[in-house]
Amino acid sequence: MSTPTMRAVSQPAFGGPEVLEPVHVPRPEPLPTEVLVRVRAAGVNPVDWKTRSGGGMAGVLGQPPFILGWDVSGVVEEVGFGVTTWKPGDEVYGMPWFPRAAGAYAEYVTAPSRQFARKPATLDHEHAAAVPLAALTAWQALTDTAGVRAGQRVLIHAGAGGVGHLAVQFARHLGAHVVTTARAAKHEWLRKLGADETIDYTTTRFEDAVADVDVVVDLVGDGHDDTSTRSLRVLRRGGLLVAVPSGVSPELAERAEAAGVRATPFLVEPDAPALARIAGLIDQGEVAVEVEDVLPLEQAAEAHRRGEEGRTRGKLVLTV
Ligand SMILES: NC(=O)c1ccc[n+]([C@@H]2O[C@H](COP(=O)([O-])OP(=O)(O)OC[C@H]3O[C@@H](n4cnc5c(N)ncnc54)[C@H](OP(=O)(O)O)[C@@H]3O)[C@@H](O)[C@H]2O)c1
Repeated sequence: MSTPTMRAVSQPAFGGPEVLEPVHVPRPEPLPTEVLVRVRAAGVNPVDWKTRSGGGMAGVLGQPPFILGWDVSGVVEEVGFGVTTWKPGDEVYGMPWFPRAAGAYAEYVTAPSRQFARKPATLDHEHAAAVPLAALTAWQALTDTAGVRAGQRVLIHAGAGGVGHLAVQFARHLGAHVVTTARAAKHEWLRKLGADETIDYTTTRFEDAVADVDVVVDLVGDGHDDTSTRSLRVLRRGGLLVAVPSGVSPELAERAEAAGVRATPFLVEPDAPALARIAGLIDQGEVAVEVEDVLPLEQAAEAHRRGEEGRTRGKLVLTV
């Protein structure tokens, strides 16, 4: 009997968006404790295009060909031996396997059953697929890493992006005073999401507009205008910089110590209990998910081109 195949988007080499090509590959089969999920939509994240071109998680994935994508919203098709918590037909979402390959740019993925949570009931698959990686990053950085408490002052760089717009809402939910950077055209929207103060980073140096911050969630990094290094100046003594995109260089660590503040690198991890909690916040109407556009899987290259321009409001999603 021939192995069933599926549609996917793969890449034969590292390179620009043009290396992404539609292919047919064997459909995976779930091992014991895994589920086979029919992917209805796959979220697109900066780590996808960084990895595509040889950065990001390329060191983990190894040499191409490989299938990108970590954000999945879909339907359980089959359960492996021993799985008792899901059944075929259940609607799930997750960020399985990260940072190993999940292969979400495809019709099916297999992954450990406990890396999925029930899809938010109030979202369609396109919106649900926008959530896992971005929301887990925002949630884990604010809660597990920074321990943000009510009344603290939190600065979120790039509040209008995939991670940022969720971080603004989570920080508000945690009771923080939320300050965020974005272009002026996005300020009204960010205030509706819960930002108390907005700074247009294209006209104002943020360090001239905000001080005494307890936690900076930096989603820009030192690669752009020394954002991490400049963020040390706005922290109160003992405050924490979570350097999300580029980590903490030895120079940054030294400067943080000299300034009496802390700086930590961060990498998001699969976390089904957090996804269940986030689904609850979404279904209660506490958190809104912004999807800028939905493209068919075969247009993954176009989604990468647009994402890489760095102006996305919320998320880009591929429908499978
Ligand atoms: N370490 C981890 O675990 C982890 C996890 C998730 C993401 N990340 C990284 O975190 C970064 C953000 O991810 P994302 O998904 O949120 O990206 P994204 O959605 O592509 O971010 C786009 C947003 O960035 C804003 N922006 C660009 N330059 C800015 C600047 N200098 N100051 C303020 N805002 C700026 C843009 O807003 P305007 O149009 O208003 O400029 C746009 O809305 C990426 O580098 C990603 O790789 C790391």
